[in-house]
Amino acid sequence: MDIPLVDLRLQHEEIAEEVKRGFDAVFERTAFVLGPAVEDFERAFAKYSDTRHCIGVGSGTDAIEMILRAEGIGPDDEVIVPANTFIATALAVTRVGATPVFVDCDADYYLIDVAKTKEAINKRTRGILAVDLYGQIAPFEKLEDLARGRGITVMEDAAQSHGARRNGCRAGGFGVAAAMSFYPGKNLGAYGDGGAVLCNDDAFDQRVRELRNWGGTVKYEHPVVGFNSRLDTLQAVVLRAKLDRLEDWNEQRREAAARYDELLAGASDVVLPKVAPGNEAVWHLYVVRVPERDRVLAQLHEQGIGAGIHYPTPCHLQGAYASMGLGEGSFPVAEKAAREILSLPLFPGITADQQEKVAEVLLRAI
Ligand SMILES: Cc1ncc(COP(=O)(O)O)c(C=O)c1O
Repeated sequence: MDIPLVDLRLQHEEIAEEVKRGFDAVFERTAFVLGPAVEDFERAFAKYSDTRHCIGVGSGTDAIEMILRAEGIGPDDEVIVPANTFIATALAVTRVGATPVFVDCDADYYLIDVAKTKEAINKRTRGILAVDLYGQIAPFEKLEDLARGRGITVMEDAAQSHGARRNGCRAGGFGVAAAMSFYPGKNLGAYGDGGAVLCNDDAFDQRVRELRNWGGTVKYEHPVVGFNSRLDTLQAVVLRAKLDRLEDWNEQRREAAARYDELLAGASDVVLPKVAPGNEAVWHLYVVRVPERDRVLAQLHEQGIGAGIHYPTPCHLQGAYASMGLGEGSFPVAEKAAREILSLPLFPGITADQQEKVAEVLLRAI
């Protein structure tokens, strides 16, 4: 693609020297699992996210699973999740033996619908796992209101919102704990898989530290059944170097989003993304809605523009959840969005020329 959806090369060029030095220090110390590089990143990322604790784990998916496990959520429990998210949100719930209960999203921001969430609550509901989709934070204060006094835990899937704020509070600080993903294309991305749990409670922190390390933090003592899922030490070096640039990179994303807003303003067939009141988005993705999306997308690809779809099939229509019997029509807002949405190339370092070209090809295709 002439203009990729995400260009990670630009980020690498900025940090290449620092990463080399950091890798050399790890090789020198031969501390290949956890060690000072992971601790240093955990400290810095907790500070950045305004949380008391950060626990580096193997992936965002594992981070969600560990939060659920640390909360004691398992078989017989229901956890409410949005139907329009990356499948990992729901899979983590299924993997702990609980049942994901899908709910629709709102039509403006694609975030979990609060009224539908309320309707889905019943005696078995143990959790609400909301997703900060595309880089803006879900309406947690309203979800907390629903959960209060009912034994329901609110949790944040912050895999797409590193650095975002809602009413002044940073992503990662909502609910009992937040899961972060450092999958390469994320706003803060590693050079492979990686993730983190962010939380404020000391006992919760300790439980997740045990879970990530075969169920114990003291060598050969395993009080619980855990995972082997620590943040890789070399990935921590990459993430530490990138973290220093995250504010700047998020600002570049905001500028690029504003430029698309201008370039596409007035095009009656294009529905532009909106930011919910109180939210400061970090534009993990810039998602528009267009008529005849598949034809438009094909035309963009033909012209060398790496647009994408996030996500073409809502969770309830995936084969993995076919046994739930939730067919087409179950969640009309999410399903309609899935047919119309289109993610345009957006990354730190995208140029005005590149964006003008994207807008021109898009408007011509429409
Ligand atoms: C919303 C959401 N949740 C969870 C994940 C899973 O993260 P990971 O790929 O690090 O397992 C991702 C990204 O991949 C995501 O976008």
